[in-house]
Amino acid sequence: MTALINKNEENLSYNRQEWKQGYQSQPNEYDYFIEDIEGKVPDELQGTLFRNGPGLLDVQGTPVQHPFDGDGMICSISFLPNGKVHFRNRFVRTEGYVQEQKEGKMVYRGVFGTQKPGGWLNNILDIKIKNIANTNVIYWGKKLLALWEVAEPYRLDPSTLETIGIDYLDGVLNPGDSIAAHPRFDPSSELDQGQPCLVNYSINPGLSSKITIYEFAPDGNLLRRHSHAVPGFSFIHDFAITSNYCLLLQNPVTFNPVPYLLGFKGAGECVNFHPGKPSKLIIIPRDPSNKKVKILEADSGFVFHHVNAFEEGNSIYLDSISYNSLPQIQPDGDYREVDFESLDPGQIYRFKIDLDQETVEKEMIESRCCEFPSINPSNAGRNYRYLFIGTAHKDQCNAPLQAILKLDLLTGKKQIHSFAPQGYVGEPIFVPKPDSTNEDQGWVLVMVYDGNKHRSDIVILDGENLEKEPIATLHLKHHIPYGLHGNWTSELFS
Ligand code: CO
Repeated sequence: MTALINKNEENLSYNRQEWKQGYQSQPNEYDYFIEDIEGKVPDELQGTLFRNGPGLLDVQGTPVQHPFDGDGMICSISFLPNGKVHFRNRFVRTEGYVQEQKEGKMVYRGVFGTQKPGGWLNNILDIKIKNIANTNVIYWGKKLLALWEVAEPYRLDPSTLETIGIDYLDGVLNPGDSIAAHPRFDPSSELDQGQPCLVNYSINPGLSSKITIYEFAPDGNLLRRHSHAVPGFSFIHDFAITSNYCLLLQNPVTFNPVPYLLGFKGAGECVNFHPGKPSKLIIIPRDPSNKKVKILEADSGFVFHHVNAFEEGNSIYLDSISYNSLPQIQPDGDYREVDFESLDPGQIYRFKIDLDQETVEKEMIESRCCEFPSINPSNAGRNYRYLFIGTAHKDQCNAPLQAILKLDLLTGKKQIHSFAPQGYVGEPIFVPKPDSTNEDQGWVLVMVYDGNKHRSDIVILDGENLEKEPIATLHLKHHIPYGLHGNWTSELFS
């Protein structure tokens, strides 16, 4: 194999050929009990892990230009009371997926640069967006919903993963509306006498952007909805909540739609990052009667994901993964040939927001290359101590995520569980133990692609002692392409 590795990649913790195979399509749909298990699945671990991500990296042989353009495929891993673990995966039967599979060819342009074959003539003025439902999957209000931030959710049967259809959230959305793929779960909402609630947002972009905040009760009913106009184009993938506020970071980007409309580029390629310009932090009160939206300037950087946020006195703390620059999507580049070393790594920063002085300070709290954060869900929007996140094997430079980092924000102590050289990790999910008293008492569930065996594993790590051997490693019979986001529910479906 060494002959295939670039000279500069000899000392790396990963093998590019193996890493690339994690971007192979998985066109098959499976349904089986996992039998190949190392270690023992804890008896108390019962519930369902749902994950979403691009399952097809090509449409009938035509490769997508960016993995974010791949059709959404849901995995469900059910941890049953009898100790058995069941695996299932199904594609979301979006209108676009069904049509392209039926016609046997690529019909839609992708938002992140995938062009239909035939050059710009065949793409010109084609602004038909394919809802690929590939970014996140949540179970809320007795509905399993696949989310993609520029369109409506798709609802699926949580037992069979069969697609039920586009879901308008009981009339909250209208056809053509969108809702973000990164809802936040408030475990105890002050506005609702301590009941849990789900907070999400939508953005109508333009010269100014309209941001709408939605809050939903556990039964799925809408509790609150309010809209706010903010100046400038917004490219906001994620947000954070505290007890009283929604926080949205407006990255310093502009959008030039002309090459997209003319068919030269995908919409994602027309987003331009301005490294010298400040970010804008938009602070929206969750109580709709409080209309005092604040927009404060923060140091430049590009943020996809936030870890968590919380209030302390008249300050708000926001922890986020920030990049010094946005990797520009190249029209002719192959994402699998990316030169990791030339890209800025995602690093963890803490924004300290002084609401009285209206100032924002930004401080780095972890310089390693990190992405896909997770915390104990009962600390969402509250002061917290531990975060779990995907990270590179080495402590410097950008590289594929091959390890999970546990960071103790109180002491700065770190624990790292690495799957290098053959393992590549996705987003970890922290599941608290049923009777836990400490924040890190729980399991870290992570899907790991084994590039050597070309199959994926579900690995259960101990949240309190991340560095020890996995509690259990569940080998799937096949691979799952690198995924995006997912969620745990203690519900079981049959
Ligand atoms: Co995301």
